[in-house]
Amino acid sequence: MLPERKQILVVDDEPNLRRVLSAQLERDGWEVHTAEDGAMGLEMLRDNHIDLVITDLRMPKVDGMELLRQARALDAELPVVMITAHGTVDNAVEALKTGAFDYITKPFDQGEVRAIVRKALKTRDLSATDATPQDHANQEGFRYGIIGHSPAIKELYAILDRVADTPTTVLITGASGTGKELVARALHENSSRRDMPFIKVNCAAIPKDLMESELFGYERGAFTGAVTSKPGRFELASGGTLFLDEIGNIPVEMQVKLLRALQESEFERVGGIKTIKVDVRVVAATNSDLKKEIASGGFREDLYYRLNVVPLRLPPLCERGAEDTLLLAQHFIQKFNARLKKNIVDADAEAKKRLTEYPWQGNIRELENVVERAVLFCDTTQLRVGDLPAEVREGRAAPDPTAATEAASSDGLKEQVKAAMSRLERELIVKALEQTKGNVTHAARLLKISRKGLQLKMKELGLRESAETKEPKKLA
Ligand SMILES: Nc1ncnc2c1ncn2[C@@H]1O[C@H](COP(=O)(O)OP(=O)(O)OP(=O)(O)O)[C@@H](O)[C@H]1O
Ligand SMILES: [Mg+2]
Repeated sequence: MLPERKQILVVDDEPNLRRVLSAQLERDGWEVHTAEDGAMGLEMLRDNHIDLVITDLRMPKVDGMELLRQARALDAELPVVMITAHGTVDNAVEALKTGAFDYITKPFDQGEVRAIVRKALKTRDLSATDATPQDHANQEGFRYGIIGHSPAIKELYAILDRVADTPTTVLITGASGTGKELVARALHENSSRRDMPFIKVNCAAIPKDLMESELFGYERGAFTGAVTSKPGRFELASGGTLFLDEIGNIPVEMQVKLLRALQESEFERVGGIKTIKVDVRVVAATNSDLKKEIASGGFREDLYYRLNVVPLRLPPLCERGAEDTLLLAQHFIQKFNARLKKNIVDADAEAKKRLTEYPWQGNIRELENVVERAVLFCDTTQLRVGDLPAEVREGRAAPDPTAATEAASSDGLKEQVKAAMSRLERELIVKALEQTKGNVTHAARLLKISRKGLQLKMKELGLRESAETKEPKKLA
């Protein structure tokens, strides 16, 4: 299984140290949260889904040892790495006895930090998948963390075998939820660049006028507010892989600059005169039809050909056939078994039939969400039709596959999928609250989202914390 973006919490009262450490961790591709003391750290642990804690030992309020103890009480599997000053190894030994994963000494050695973080997160992954002892990694149908048996996926494996460990640019296309990001990460993880950063840029999420400085960085004084200079994503990805997601959304004005950076492997920071050279492997992805964009003037043809050196088209689930759908469903059952502490073996024949007949317009992401919900609902060792959401049970979505492909880009369909998703979310949340007797903190942990996130979602879905969903202690 490939890693999702792991979340690391850095707790230290020294702002400089927090900054340096989180910058390094971010550069390595992790998502970083910071807290300035143990009390704040604990609060963040409760509110976020943290995979690893790195904490200083000596801190005001709650110190590192206390944080370690409380963190392990919250989640016994959570790895905690201690930061100690040189020469205070005694404390570190005590921390190890209390269950700390490892310790690092100040001043940091980047390589050492990187190695410990990787090891700690790997341990975390293994403990999360205890329920699936067999190693899927090299099994046919499970290669690269990408699941499938269909001819289309076998072809994908063959291309990955050939291009993963090359510097070649790859353009991944496919509808929403077909696994584009998964494949991009697989390319990186299976290349000799795997120990270097994987940097993702979501071109649709970055405002037009920030795009250039995001990609190429800027020099101090380049514009109002540029008080220091900053490297861009190209520089951060140096030696590794740059993943340009939703490349179809990159503003036309930026396309020439991007083309040059790709062709020459060089660029200048905004406001800079020095030409910077980097060694970066570029993988791009899009769910829009770039050929159409070219025709309408929204995308440069020369850039398209530069990106499309190796095209990888990910088929929608409906083209992959029943066998793939069932393989994926089975994989997600295992995944959520581990997460939700269930023991489900498989789906019964009728449930399998509904799963294979349903036209998955949200593709694998939608299937994954449906299985997660079903696993949560299921009280026995087999998923049954009753555990599936109404639309899958009744096969309600458009049955005509040609209409589905045509509609796939239409707003109407997006609305439909969105509505189905929020119904699903709602059911999941209600069920989680039921299971935890209305305890929002526990429900959030079950759903693997932050407590604040859950509260927001509840509000959005009109699920106010009513009498029966309130935390028990708040009941009169
Ligand atoms: N072949 C596969 N095997 C296992 N899991 C998969 C596969 N394809 C996709 N997934 C899972 O489905 C979810 C959606 O995949 P991903 O985010 O890569 O899709 P995407 O194409 O980038 O979607 P979007 O266009 O919406 O960004 C992820 O959780 C991913 O791990
Ligand atoms: Mg994506």
